[in-house]
Amino acid sequence: MQNISENSGSIVAPRHLAIIMDGNGRWAKNREKPRVSGHREGAKAVRRVITACAQLGVQELTLFAFSSENWKRPSLEVNALMTLFVESIKRESSSLKENGIRTKIVGDISRFSPTLQEQIHKVEQLTADCSLMNLNIAANYGGRWDILQACKQLTEKCMEGQLAVDDLTEADLSQVLSVSKDVDLMIRTGGEKRISNFLMWQAAYAELYFSNTLWPDYDKEDLLEAFAFFNGRERRFGMTSAQVQNKEVKDAN
Ligand code: IPE
Ligand code: IPE
Ligand code: MG
Repeated sequence: MQNISENSGSIVAPRHLAIIMDGNGRWAKNREKPRVSGHREGAKAVRRVITACAQLGVQELTLFAFSSENWKRPSLEVNALMTLFVESIKRESSSLKENGIRTKIVGDISRFSPTLQEQIHKVEQLTADCSLMNLNIAANYGGRWDILQACKQLTEKCMEGQLAVDDLTEADLSQVLSVSKDVDLMIRTGGEKRISNFLMWQAAYAELYFSNTLWPDYDKEDLLEAFAFFNGRERRFGMTSAQVQNKEVKDAN
């Protein structure tokens, strides 16, 4: 983990941060505006948070933009979200590249329009060599979908003789997930306390932080609050507190 220097004292950023960006609809409703305007404002928060995370030393950021269940929404809203997605990628591509942000869209993109798929491939290729921060935008993503597609890949590898069923490890499965790294901190904005089929496997030991801030209002201060919470957690991974603290002493020597 990296120390945050800029006006945040000694707060340490999580290595892999995942965010369920919720509350766009309620933000709009509070202002008697259509839900789409909430999504538009939400896109501005996405930009703000990506910049802040890169500044604060987050190594990998995974944002939940559209779930595999969100297709159930009214088609007007789904279409508006798709348009917004295309526009945002087009607009932000060069600045992502300039800021060293390696961008991937994770999820089943085969259901998207050819135009959107083309934009996705373009931004992924453009930023492929970037190394300051990895950004994963989860779109048409579901945690169960991810585990299932990973199982299909492993099955194929076994059938081709590249792997043996009896020797399969958790690391083998992690490697073929669309997001491989374990999540350190998962934030959900908008006040709901559920995971909504986000990174089911990768969040097995994540610290969970629920914020009442609606996503379009989310900013660097909110992020620092979540990081301060994260810094106050003792991550025991099944061990006792004494074991963890003893290990820290050993690591420091
Ligand atoms: C999150 O905000 C954005 C997406 C799921 C695409 P919502 O649109 O779910 O906002 P609420 O929960 O209705 O306020
Ligand atoms: C989760 O938000 C998905 C995204 C943030 C993209 P939802 O608003 O769709 O979640 P539920 O349906 O309330 O659980
Ligand atoms: Mg919601």
